[in-house]
Amino acid sequence: MKNRITELFGIQHPIIQGGMHFVGFAELAAAVSNAGGLGTITGLTQRTAADLANEIAKCREMTDKPFAVNLTFLPTVNSPDYPGYIDAIIKGGVKIVETAGRSPQEYMPALKDAGIKVIHKCTSVRHALKAQSIGCDAVSVDGFECGGHPGEDDIPNMILLPRAAEELEIPFVASGGMADGRSLVAAIALGAEGMNMGTRFIATQEAPVHENVKQAIVAASELDTRLVMRPLRNTERVLNNAAVERILEKEARLGKDLKFTDIIDEVAGVYPKIMKDGDMELGAWSCGMVAGLIHDVPTCQQLIDNIMNQAEEIIRARLAGML
Ligand SMILES: Cc1cc2nc3c(=O)[nH]c(=O)nc-3n(C[C@H](O)[C@H](O)[C@H](O)COP(=O)(O)O)c2cc1C
Repeated sequence: MKNRITELFGIQHPIIQGGMHFVGFAELAAAVSNAGGLGTITGLTQRTAADLANEIAKCREMTDKPFAVNLTFLPTVNSPDYPGYIDAIIKGGVKIVETAGRSPQEYMPALKDAGIKVIHKCTSVRHALKAQSIGCDAVSVDGFECGGHPGEDDIPNMILLPRAAEELEIPFVASGGMADGRSLVAAIALGAEGMNMGTRFIATQEAPVHENVKQAIVAASELDTRLVMRPLRNTERVLNNAAVERILEKEARLGKDLKFTDIIDEVAGVYPKIMKDGDMELGAWSCGMVAGLIHDVPTCQQLIDNIMNQAEEIIRARLAGML
């Protein structure tokens, strides 16, 4: 399949693995890129810029295909060393950056001067238009279904994607709720030129996370995610567990008085213990409703091949046959 997204990033299939905290290491990024998609290393999972440089070098040894680095701009008081991370990206020869969180405007000159293609992930048409106006090459439009931070507008992809298509000139991919060839064809029908997946890529052989995480996703249905931190306007879609129940109880009890410190035990610093050690009840971790469509743990190559075969089958046999 060829379109503006495959051309822009020099990839075989319009399938992107989004940045994921404590999941997006070199092993997964390389596996996705080797399978013809675009793999992504998660920048902030690396503690320092030097660590990111090492992870990029490691990924380069594992694939000769293009891969990206995710830079998530967090609403924190003490900003991470973004200039250092960008320096590591440029010196590591990475040519694609996925930005998320706040607008990447401040860092666009540095990225564009280095010839880097920027795809900004956002949850609204207005933020997508802003990304286009500051020179982003593409956007990843993240619907309400998505794992992680869906924003505060709550617009599902059935509406958000065609709205993005009405307004945008730059190409965009659909993100949130994407799992298979059906998702890809639907995303394209709604105006996207590919898809970005998070949760689906965690349940793969190469994702360097504990087996418990993969099995939790396979066992989960579409009813098993919850939205936490809504009162803090930092909404996150997570898989339900004991820690999430505690957060929701505190949110209901404290209402508008809820502060981040009230839930810090359940959300701060929990990712390594969940993703590496498989301690599944320890804290809140991002997961999409798409868990309901995930029933296996294939290799990235099998997953991407299956997606492309199913998409082709739907287009050629099912859709063309109706005309
Ligand atoms: C465990 C997990 C961690 C994530 N961490 C990040 C992150 O650090 N930065 C980011 O931009 N997006 C992050 N995301 C969002 C994904 O990149 C992607 O946009 C999202 O998962 C798409 O929705 P889906 O899970 O329905 O495919 C994370 C998602 C998951 C499931």
